Amino acid sequence: MNNYTDQQIGKDLFRYIKKRSKKTNLFKFAWLKNQILKISIQNKKLQTQLFRFVDVLPSLKTKDRRLDIFLQYLHEGKSLLYAPSFLAAKTPVIREFLDWIINFSVKELAKTFICGSNIQQAKQSIKKLSLKNQLYTLDLLGELTLNKKEADKYFNDYKQLIQEIPSAHLSIKLSALEPHINILDFEIKKNNLSNKLRELFRLAITANASINIDTEHYFWKDFYFQILKEILIEDEFRSWTGAGIVVQAYLKDSQKDLEDWISWAKKRKSSISIRLVKGAYWDYEYAKAKQQNWQCPVFTQKFQSDINYEKLSEILLDSYNFVRPALASHNVRSLAHAINYALKKNIPKQAFEFQMLYGMLDELKDYFSENDYTLRIYLPYGDLVQGMSYLVRRLLENTANDSFLRQGFLDGSSEDLLLQDPNEKSFDLPKTPVDTGFENIANIDFSKSINHSKIQSEIKNLNNEFKLAQKYPCLIGDQKIFADKFFESVNPAKPSQVLGLISHGTEQDCNKAINRAKEIQKKWSQWDCSKRAELLKNVAHELEKNRFRLIALLCLEAGKPWVEADGEVSEAVDFLNYYAQESLELFSGDKLRSLPGEKNYNIYQPYGVSAIIPPWNFPLAILVGMASAAISVGNTAIIKPSMQTSLIAYEFVKIFNRVLEMKGLHQFKGLLNLITGEGKTIGNFLVEHPDVKLIAFTGSNAVGMSIYQKASSTFPPKRVVAEMGGKNAVIIDESADLDEALPGLIYSAFGYSGQKCSAASRAIIHQNIYQDFLARLKQTLPEIIITDPAQGQCYMGPVIDANSQIKINNYINIGKQEADLLIGDLELPETGYFVSPTVFVNVSEDSKLAQDEIFGPVLVVFKANNFDHALSIANNCSFGLTGGLYSRSPNNIKQAIDQFVTGNLYINRPCTGAIVSRQAFGGLKNSSIGFKAGGPNYLLQFVQEKTITENTMRRGFAED
Ligand code: FDA
Repeated sequence: MNNYTDQQIGKDLFRYIKKRSKKTNLFKFAWLKNQILKISIQNKKLQTQLFRFVDVLPSLKTKDRRLDIFLQYLHEGKSLLYAPSFLAAKTPVIREFLDWIINFSVKELAKTFICGSNIQQAKQSIKKLSLKNQLYTLDLLGELTLNKKEADKYFNDYKQLIQEIPSAHLSIKLSALEPHINILDFEIKKNNLSNKLRELFRLAITANASINIDTEHYFWKDFYFQILKEILIEDEFRSWTGAGIVVQAYLKDSQKDLEDWISWAKKRKSSISIRLVKGAYWDYEYAKAKQQNWQCPVFTQKFQSDINYEKLSEILLDSYNFVRPALASHNVRSLAHAINYALKKNIPKQAFEFQMLYGMLDELKDYFSENDYTLRIYLPYGDLVQGMSYLVRRLLENTANDSFLRQGFLDGSSEDLLLQDPNEKSFDLPKTPVDTGFENIANIDFSKSINHSKIQSEIKNLNNEFKLAQKYPCLIGDQKIFADKFFESVNPAKPSQVLGLISHGTEQDCNKAINRAKEIQKKWSQWDCSKRAELLKNVAHELEKNRFRLIALLCLEAGKPWVEADGEVSEAVDFLNYYAQESLELFSGDKLRSLPGEKNYNIYQPYGVSAIIPPWNFPLAILVGMASAAISVGNTAIIKPSMQTSLIAYEFVKIFNRVLEMKGLHQFKGLLNLITGEGKTIGNFLVEHPDVKLIAFTGSNAVGMSIYQKASSTFPPKRVVAEMGGKNAVIIDESADLDEALPGLIYSAFGYSGQKCSAASRAIIHQNIYQDFLARLKQTLPEIIITDPAQGQCYMGPVIDANSQIKINNYINIGKQEADLLIGDLELPETGYFVSPTVFVNVSEDSKLAQDEIFGPVLVVFKANNFDHALSIANNCSFGLTGGLYSRSPNNIKQAIDQFVTGNLYINRPCTGAIVSRQAFGGLKNSSIGFKAGGPNYLLQFVQEKTITENTMRRGFAED
């Protein structure tokens, strides 16, 4: 038992580092790295821009483009170097030199963290390490592959490495081994990954190699751990000790992970290696959790990760009889704690190892071999384009405010501070600011298999419920009114499955509903707005409680894949909560200027009875959005849903009425009335009815415009709020990150079979990357899983009905004659209204294919000569709903913001999936009439604005 403290050992390590640093040659490239890092951390804005530039550089093929983008980033970073560089770059010789220096610097920067670009260079590094008694683990750069070809390349490369390097030690990433274009194909991924892993492990056993599986994003962690546990316990691999896994101490559930692994190893009765790290994806996990409104999986204070790391080090070291502990860190305090703990517990030095990354804290590395500890260096090698995520992670790690390396070696914090026990820092815990903004409801976390089971079981329940093909009535006030005639609602993936028989509402039913809505409207509008808001929130809560049933229903009746259906339920809940909140804001006070003796104010009054006409593609969210907006401000409503998705509308109105009952508000039955049936008859009847004062519509441009015409020819004209489609373009410029652009575009164009009004249907690709892009698209798109959406792995389901199928196929046939088919005629399920994902190239800009809203999985691809040309193609369209841009050029991004004529512009992300209160949604040109849904102005359309001016002066005296 020793009596050292962690601080004393830490000081020893620092002494060692200092001695080594003095010997460091200033011209060694670590110096250059440090200079670049120092410049960047002095200016946070410049740092971001420099790292962004490093990220894009390997993709830029020409000198002119490199210089151009470099200057743009300097300008964005407000760097003092911008003006002289800009001027200098005008001279050809200096241009040449600047380009050389930029390339040189980034390559040297990369070289400090990446040991080589090919296996020969990696082997040399291994040799050098062995001379210093240091071990290695080899990492072939690259992660997250999109298609089989890319994944198989990694698989084959890994196999080759095992065979080529004697007793190789590899660190591999499972995200590279199996393509990631599909989202919820867990079973398929599991099968394929398991087979690949078994093959690699078999080879490794024969070649006496070791394989460590790196841990990546939280979403996949449990899934990957489960696969590994299952395989490594199989008879064939049970006694193999060459496998390793990684536990990330920044995760709140990491202690449980570690303990599970240890007890698993005890049961297995043969050891595996467990590498303990803090975790490399903190920014991503934190932002992702915030965006999804999920519980944050990572600690949010750095000292919490440090405390946890120390605690887990102890658990890990204590278990050295069952697993092989590997402590990976560059934090002197964390390392000192582990060293001290092992000394105190007399843990043999051979029983565990330390691990560090190539190029990080090199000054300390020899300490371990000199003191009989085992040190293993993580050696990344490979192509820089594939390795860019790795490089950027290292740059961030060296420069993050909380990073030990930054504080110790760039900021020069005192040793005492750096070696302080992290437990003592917990007193500095900053207070979390209270967030008073609107909070979106969280989507389901699909990494949890329990959520898959819940959806499956609801689908089963509904399938049973629908076996009887019951009759569904119109819902008017508190009455259920069954018609004489019914139409079928069917499952578009299995048209023979009739889900229900829906009442054909009549004009008489409409009159009844209008009368009821009129009857209660005054009372409703006089009700306190906070009570109205409360009711909407209660309905939101009830929808949330029924989330899984609603997902299942969307899946069966609208043909929505799970992820899409889940997003739609969230959107519906958000609309209710958001308009509840916004209505309070609207009625909250005077917005006009008053003067002494003159009082001015606005009051907002509802129109009266509204007609809500939603589409089948968002049968829940858009219906709920338009209806809740109308009633939140005192209107009442008649809902006329799309025929194809009447059951979903029925389910919502049923839930709404149930809440009224639960809250004892029977008198308000009829706030929302449901009339199912044909648009041509009852839709028109409602639009033209003199007592309907407001129409909220979402659907095709043709129907929207006809409603607009009818509504404007009455006296007085009716208020119309209309969303009417798009022909949306996504531009991918030559600086874009294709690893993001490609899946983003595929999702935008083919998610929900291209049937979102926001879907991408035109892709515009810069000529310099056009061929590469087409090749990867051709490789990747055919791999999306097209099947019945009731199955979780479904990426793309059917289109809504036979008419749509025929219409879309007609367009495809036109395309085959007028343009070149790049991808199409893919294998489809035998039954159901499926249409093949189809891509055309060499399309004329003004053709029907390029101009008509097809509303199906059809994408046309254009080649653009330059960015101006790309924008002109994008804008050559009568619609202007959404647009997308993938670019890493600050100037192109600015130009698109200015010139891309579109209601919603999405930069470096898919162009669908607007979220209430964050992406107010609505278009320009032929796409919309009115303000955007889910935004701060939307409710204004559902009220009439009345201005009151009162002279408050009485015989010369004025009110205060
Ligand atoms: P330091 O003490 O400076 O810690 C920095 C870390 O603290 C951040 O990386 C983050 O984890 C955490 N942190 C930062 N801000 C925080 C905040 N506000 N709240 C809470 N925590 C915060 N990583 C990985 O995810 N999977 C892997 O498989 C591997 N493999 C691997 C192998 C080897 C040999 C090494 C050396 C490293 C890894 N890593 C890794 C990377 C590793 O996760 C990363 O290097 C460390 O997190 C850096 O921690 P240090 O202890 O070195 O530094």
